[in-house]
Amino acid sequence: MTVNMRREDNVGYVEIDNAPVNAIGLSVRAGLLDAVRWAEEQNLERVIVSGKGAMFAAGADAREFDADPVEPHLPDALNAIEDSFVPWIAAIEGFALGGGAEIALACTMRFMAPSARIGFPEVNLGVIPGAGGTQRLPHMVGLANALDMITSGKPITAARAMETGLIHGIDDDPMDAAFMVNGEALGSVVSAKELPAPPLDESIVQAARDQVHSKAANQKAPLRAIDVIESGLGKALIDGLAIEREAFLELRNGEQAKALRHIFFAERGAKAPLSLVAQAVIPEHVAVVGGGTMGSAIAYALLNCGFKVTLLENDTAGVDRAKQNVENIIAASLKRAFINEQSAGEKRARFTATTDYGEIANATLAIEAAFENMEVKRFVFHALESALPAHAIIASNTSYLDINQLALAVKDPTRVVGLHFFAPAHIMKLLEIVRGEHTSATAIASAYALAKKLRKIPVVVGVCDGFVGNRILARYREAADTLLIDGSTPWEIDEAMVEFGYAMGPYTAQDLSGLDIAHANRRRQDATRDPARRYIPIADRMVELGKLGRKSGAGWYRYPDGVSRVDDPIVADIGIEEAHLAGISRVDYSASEIRERLLLAMINEAANILHEGIAQSASDIDLVTVFGYGFPRWRGGLMHYADTIGALNIVDKLSKLAEEDAVAWKISPLLQECVEVNKTLASALNDAG
Ligand code: COA
Repeated sequence: MTVNMRREDNVGYVEIDNAPVNAIGLSVRAGLLDAVRWAEEQNLERVIVSGKGAMFAAGADAREFDADPVEPHLPDALNAIEDSFVPWIAAIEGFALGGGAEIALACTMRFMAPSARIGFPEVNLGVIPGAGGTQRLPHMVGLANALDMITSGKPITAARAMETGLIHGIDDDPMDAAFMVNGEALGSVVSAKELPAPPLDESIVQAARDQVHSKAANQKAPLRAIDVIESGLGKALIDGLAIEREAFLELRNGEQAKALRHIFFAERGAKAPLSLVAQAVIPEHVAVVGGGTMGSAIAYALLNCGFKVTLLENDTAGVDRAKQNVENIIAASLKRAFINEQSAGEKRARFTATTDYGEIANATLAIEAAFENMEVKRFVFHALESALPAHAIIASNTSYLDINQLALAVKDPTRVVGLHFFAPAHIMKLLEIVRGEHTSATAIASAYALAKKLRKIPVVVGVCDGFVGNRILARYREAADTLLIDGSTPWEIDEAMVEFGYAMGPYTAQDLSGLDIAHANRRRQDATRDPARRYIPIADRMVELGKLGRKSGAGWYRYPDGVSRVDDPIVADIGIEEAHLAGISRVDYSASEIRERLLLAMINEAANILHEGIAQSASDIDLVTVFGYGFPRWRGGLMHYADTIGALNIVDKLSKLAEEDAVAWKISPLLQECVEVNKTLASALNDAG
């Protein structure tokens, strides 16, 4: 049973019992309908509905969304609750989300525990509330609040719910509060259905649309939610519900909802395999080497999750800089109210910056975030080996370097693993765990456990230049630079990718991170670059001219006042000049041609990465691209998107591009294989094992 019923005197207790999150699947819907009938048959005075465990209910069971809806539907169960002569009261602990919140709306009254949250996150799954949320909520909280809750998807606190009029009380024991409501008072509460709809205020609706256009451009669900809320205002509830249901079902079957569900479950699936869990060693004390931007943000991320952190630097100037860097993040977090003074004080108390490796004698994990140079890192590893206990794990935050080679700097290479954080390390959710050829299962298990504590999304990757994310990025940039010389400008390329759904294009992004990093990488790769591969010198010219990006006032764009971005005709001229020198007749690529080339370049590289066993699955690549590189979440990640195009189509387009440049557009064997045996990338297993 996923809905428990029990009677005490005249009160019925209905409990949703569907671990782990009380998702509302078929059996819960049927159970709720049964409970309505049961309460009426028993002629109860009231029903108190709650969730078993820490949560009221996390909403519809999204695992059912790939199949056709099966009766009884949630709206039917909720209409029955609302229409019943026995009043229902929701007692909410933990989360009441989506369908869970809609159950509460159908009840006569609602009480929340102080720490509970209520909200409508459906847009995050590409749908809108489908069981009355868009119709009942505006009656209770007004038009502006309802639009905000439903289009943002963000849950609100009990205090805020009280302020908006959504609930009737906050109580440490909401069940007791529901029990204590006086029968007469209960009888006089006006339900959502009887409350008048708020008046249609065009300016509020327009403001909501503008907000969605700026924050969730290209996403269908939030705009559709606004339409549905707006059209429900002048209608009887039953008619509004019908409009809502139709929109919900249409969105549920659409590409965006499928993509968002895919990412939702991929994110939750990114965890240590059961066989590894027991082997994890969770450190209390972590050493971080290097207090630059990356090292200090890693240190802060660790402090934020309760670890004791010792940051090691070369000299006292480095120590002072590291302390200041960490302090700056603490101050910024205080300013944005992410933390309070007490928690800032606790973090400071757990943090030391020093030059003395003697202070890490008890640390069981060290994360090296020193300068990106093999010799420097090997030196650090050596020092760590002498200072740490023999069982401690030694991790490197390198973004490109060969972990296998690095591991040879220590006697026991099994304790070495890569932990590739993304800047800013205390905010970005992705963590690439790099498995070297010697890395032990304990080191991998511990890296997974660390990711969990840091609330990051772990993806295990193999060793190659750039691992998964930066290798795809390098190919993306190479393809973009090729367009630059062959005919496009940085702003045309950026705009094409923003239209696709990226928050920013590759050149705007590179101006933010700085052109010098990629430049150093190109120099490192000079010795091993395939001489047959086209080399585009434009980025090197930029660095020679001191155009390093935002930090130098100019990069691919100019930043005259340090903030606003303007196109730079000099950069366009460099492209034309280099094309002339190379004897290239430039082509005027359309936005869709630009997009197609850049996306195909990334897909082909990603297919190679999968084929070589560097990534373990297509959905791991989806996680990397969405959570580390700004690929639009609502497109489901790079490989999910590729599967919507289809391998046959991709190979066909790549073959045409290969006629232009057979080296750069060499088709991945995995894509060929997908075509031959008619399979998707999602179902392709990597051959390298
Ligand atoms: N449908 C189906 N399964 C769900 C689910 C849903 N709506 N919400 C959570 N789950 C599953 C997760 O997939 C996970 O399964 P797993 O253990 O097999 O991996 C499990 O419940 C726990 O979820 P998780 O997110 O890891 O737990 P949490 O404690 O960190 O967070 C919530 C709990 C409820 C805040 C979070 O799961 C959430 O936001 N869920 C989605 C709510 C939603 O969008 N509802 C509207 C649906 S239209």
